[in-house]
Amino acid sequence: MTMTDDTTNEAGYQSFSIGGFSFSRDEYFATIEWPTGNHQIRIDEFLRCVQRDVAWGFFYGIVNFDSVFGTMNHYGNVDMFAGRFNEAYRKAEVDYNENFPHDDLMACFQAMLDDWTNEGYDPFAAPMETGTAYGSKNGNNTAAVTRERVVADRMVGVPGDEQIRTDENGFPVNRGFLDVPQDEPVIEAEAGYEDQVSAFNLFAYLSRSDVTWNPSVVSACKESLYCPTTEEFTLPVIHGNDRVEWFVQLTDEIQWDVEDRDTGAKRARVTMKPGDVAAMPADIRHQGYSPKRAMLLVWENGSERIPEMIANGDAPVHPVEF
Ligand code: PHB
Ligand code: FE
Repeated sequence: MTMTDDTTNEAGYQSFSIGGFSFSRDEYFATIEWPTGNHQIRIDEFLRCVQRDVAWGFFYGIVNFDSVFGTMNHYGNVDMFAGRFNEAYRKAEVDYNENFPHDDLMACFQAMLDDWTNEGYDPFAAPMETGTAYGSKNGNNTAAVTRERVVADRMVGVPGDEQIRTDENGFPVNRGFLDVPQDEPVIEAEAGYEDQVSAFNLFAYLSRSDVTWNPSVVSACKESLYCPTTEEFTLPVIHGNDRVEWFVQLTDEIQWDVEDRDTGAKRARVTMKPGDVAAMPADIRHQGYSPKRAMLLVWENGSERIPEMIANGDAPVHPVEF
């Protein structure tokens, strides 16, 4: 369980501990300590990563905050580690890993995210669209850090499902997408089928997203999930895949650094332009860089059997052979 003694340090923040890990923050940094070492991460970077881990329920596979610290999802329980996917830490035998029930680690991260996020700072926003994370304790931004991730049951726009975004419901067009047409499709259904046909303008929907690097499920067909997202600046986490992911670059440009998932050895640098499609293998980790706000479609297979199928050799780590 998370421990906090409810006292605050000289910068005004609470400290947290769970298992062998403890966390504290000062004006600029988060400090992480574990039985064999300690580590610092800039607080803005740290909060952007914690925010994703919280909103995504620890996501697919591994969420590396940087080359040292992160989490690995086992869907029900979660590993938290330091140096586990870093060759130098492993060689020096200072790497550390501990497993936690999902709900315990989630409660710890939620409490830390809420206490350490000041008024005016939104960890999901692009840096030019939010205030500073630095400084001593100054209020909070609970509404931002507890945002629900969009997860459509069937598709955005279907009655009773996630609704499209409008000025009226609080989603103005982002400054980067002012040229995106806002018309909605005209649906001409045969008589009797009116309630079975649905369509929406995905580009208009994405142009109104107020968050960055946050794939949301806009449609689901069994395990096939369309998870588009709008990207600006850097993907805060270095994601270690546990399954193949397809990327379709919808607008603008994103560069990706692709590394070996376990050692961090460089494997590729990928520049994606509008219309480009990439299949990211299941044994890599990657981080993206988006100089301008861009739309990216991430296509996931959400089946919980995939990590096991890959481990058994029943599913490939590359989706296509050339
Ligand atoms: C990914 O790791 O594949 C990923 C995560 C977040 C994004 C885009 C891609 O916004
Ligand atoms: Fe990924």
